[in-house]
Amino acid sequence: MIGVIGGSGVYEIDGVVIKENKRISTPFGAPSDSYRIGEISGIEVAFLPRHGSPHHIAPHKINYRANIRGFKELGAERIISVNAVGGINPKLKPGSIVILNQIIDMTEGRASTFYDEEEIVHVDFTEPYCPELRAAILTAGKNAGIALKEDAAYICVNGPRLETAAEIRAFSLLGADVVGMTGMPEASLARELAICFSGIGVVTNYAAGISSNRLTTTEVVKTMAESAEAVKTLLERTFVSIPHARNCMCKDALANAKM
Ligand code: HPA
Repeated sequence: MIGVIGGSGVYEIDGVVIKENKRISTPFGAPSDSYRIGEISGIEVAFLPRHGSPHHIAPHKINYRANIRGFKELGAERIISVNAVGGINPKLKPGSIVILNQIIDMTEGRASTFYDEEEIVHVDFTEPYCPELRAAILTAGKNAGIALKEDAAYICVNGPRLETAAEIRAFSLLGADVVGMTGMPEASLARELAICFSGIGVVTNYAAGISSNRLTTTEVVKTMAESAEAVKTLLERTFVSIPHARNCMCKDALANAKM
């Protein structure tokens, strides 16, 4: 089964016939919503809107542990996440779609590990996103004629406020291409459960100070809606491009990681 986490503006996937709406309770509490279980081209897919549906959970209030644990309980071995992001790299115009390949985590105060009780685990996070899933998304983009920027570094801020222009200048110097509020701890929690995880970023706006416009949530939602068709096509094509068996390091994330 493949999991999909939808961000702002992505509350369903066209083409997936939903067979079941499954509510899951986890030892970490309730996920953002029920999981929509469906099938596309014979592949089982579980979809979760991370902000709930309708959109009502702020980025810093999302129960990331429950969301990822819920996917594990469903048997998902892979998760593709979709994120609205601000473009820091001036080459990334609103409407650009990027495949995330690195993360800088600036979040604080989020429950960010499954291992804070007896067991002490340090998972390797050198490559935070699954290379096999990233390759599948890239292939899907090529097949569908959707232009993708391949290697975007994502900086995750706590929000919910947007950034200052100086923060964005600093993030640019640190090497970030895009900024968002929800990529962490989603990615590291998936790694802690040995689930392959990938991120598709939809650039919804120039980040603060990159253009002279004031940032608005309206702009984010509007650009996301305009990109929704391309994202859905990309997802559909990605599902069929993913190899059946996993050949990446994610599945062995817990080997030699426990104290
Ligand atoms: N900053 C942070 N998060 C975002 C942005 C942004 O500019 N755009 C979409 N999500």
